[in-house]
Amino acid sequence: MCGITGYIGYREAYPIIINGLKRLEYRGYDSAGIILYDGKEMKMSKTKGKVANLEKKIEKNITKTGTIGFGHTRWATHGVPNDVNSHPHYSESENLAIIHNGIIENYDTIKKELISRGYTFKSDTDTEVLINLIEEVKKQENVKLGKAVQIALNQVVGAYAIVVFDKTHPNELVVAKLGSPIAIGIGKDNKEFFIASDASPFIEYTKNAIYLEDEEVAVIKVGKSVKVRKIKDDSIVDSKVLQLQLNLDQIEKGGYDHFMLKEIYEQPKAIIDTYRGRLLANEGIIRMAGVDDNIQRFLNADRIIIVACGTSWHAGLVAEYLFEDIARIPVEVEYGSEFRYRNPIITNKDIVISISQSGETADTLAAVKMAREKGAFVFGVCNVVGSSIARETDAGAYTHAGPEIGVASTKAFTTQITVLSLIALKLGLAKGNLSKSAYQNYLHQMELIPNKVEALLNINDKVKHIASIYKDAKNFLYLGRGFNFPVALEGALKLKEISYIHAEGYPAAEMKHGPIALIDENMPIVVIATKKGHYEKVVSNIQEIKARKGKIIAVVTEGDTTVKEIADHTIEIPETEEAFTPLLTTIPLQLLSYHIAVMLEKNVDQPRNLAKSVTVE
Ligand code: F6R
Repeated sequence: MCGITGYIGYREAYPIIINGLKRLEYRGYDSAGIILYDGKEMKMSKTKGKVANLEKKIEKNITKTGTIGFGHTRWATHGVPNDVNSHPHYSESENLAIIHNGIIENYDTIKKELISRGYTFKSDTDTEVLINLIEEVKKQENVKLGKAVQIALNQVVGAYAIVVFDKTHPNELVVAKLGSPIAIGIGKDNKEFFIASDASPFIEYTKNAIYLEDEEVAVIKVGKSVKVRKIKDDSIVDSKVLQLQLNLDQIEKGGYDHFMLKEIYEQPKAIIDTYRGRLLANEGIIRMAGVDDNIQRFLNADRIIIVACGTSWHAGLVAEYLFEDIARIPVEVEYGSEFRYRNPIITNKDIVISISQSGETADTLAAVKMAREKGAFVFGVCNVVGSSIARETDAGAYTHAGPEIGVASTKAFTTQITVLSLIALKLGLAKGNLSKSAYQNYLHQMELIPNKVEALLNINDKVKHIASIYKDAKNFLYLGRGFNFPVALEGALKLKEISYIHAEGYPAAEMKHGPIALIDENMPIVVIATKKGHYEKVVSNIQEIKARKGKIIAVVTEGDTTVKEIADHTIEIPETEEAFTPLLTTIPLQLLSYHIAVMLEKNVDQPRNLAKSVTVE
């Protein structure tokens, strides 16, 4: 969480930083701030609220000149979101300035020590403690900024991506990373450098970037190359310069009102991009290097443990049904946060699959590290190329969904399910649980999914109409069974996170064990009742709801007549294999939550209190 971006070079830094902050706002938007150095002085402006507020404030309080600077958009951890707690922060002498994404866990102890040495603090943040620690080290050890940062970070427990500037040596920026991501864009002939939490702020300036690894510090000087060292032992690191694939179109709204809507509509393409080169239906082949290279491990695995958070955890639940049904491998699905602190029993015959769009989620990352330490083979399903989880895992498969900017995850979910379906099918065939003809049929059905999603998106207006009827409801219930139980959970999550309406997902049959008490004529209930998934049983549940006057919005298979007669509204999805229905049933639920949130005038892409990349525990 928190987005950081910086520039050092020959151009005016302000437009680069402010536009960069807008692109990074998905990472946090409690407050924003900027520092510019114009050759003489540092000028700081910061404020509670969004980057747009910052822009207005800057117009009044600082000049926008300077070829060095950095900016921050915050998701608050320590200290309420207000102007003072916003980043950047100065050191006591105001010679040093810092922006920080992460948490310094032992900040309190360090703060007390610094207070005893005469330091004073303006904010409640852990970050102000860190910059004063760096200042103190610099003074005590009489070292340059890079060295002081390195020594200070060796005393710190926590996570960080930081950028630090020293106005007494204004030709360099120092950057360091542990746990939170940071990329350094390298301009032509080393004449300029860009720094950011992801590459989106500098994509129009350079395609060459270094991604710092954990426990690395970099000193960036104009005219010189980036010098990277290990924080712990001071050894020099020969960082690889990567060629970025990202382009500007991918990170802009492209005519849609919101990123979320754009990303919902991108799903047909995202699914194709995800299976392109992997699903060779006519040849009857699924090619996935990460699985092929480790096939014996997969085939000999006693069980698969899936770790993830949020929407990715829901994709993991779908995968549980896929792997158990198709590949007959026992599966456990774990929240990263619970798994990592539970002393779980893991052996070297377990395969851990971690699912994460961002590849940066702190709890999932920690679970990955722990599983590897305990001897498990860890496979990553990530969207962001080169992300921490992608790097920490033994093997993996990217989802190729393209950048997902809306905070509510949509195309990440369907592409994760696509990857996980391919793995399950591959293993199902290899283990002899799937006949060649059943396998072949699955491959052809999977190939048809993008077109079916495309066709399904035509229900947008109908879903919008349904949204207009129920937008003022205080509670929603989402019910599904089997493969579509996780979709019910996901539908409820989507609604609550962007419209702030309370919603719960339940396995349909569990309704009568409690939630049925909530049902009255004011309660909308979204029921997934597709033809192949325990259809008759779900129809009985729908009857039970009807008997209690609940309002039924049913997602059914094309041509359904039974549910149509009972439900208040039906939304038809094209027919497919039961295992693939989540790829379709989730689409109307995404649209429903989107339209309700828009009608309630909520901030769809940046819902309150949330951030896209959860790099804190
Ligand atoms: C919900 C949502 C979150 C994320 C969760 C995990 O729409 O976006 O629940 O799914 O924070 O994030 P990743 O997949 O990046 O690990």
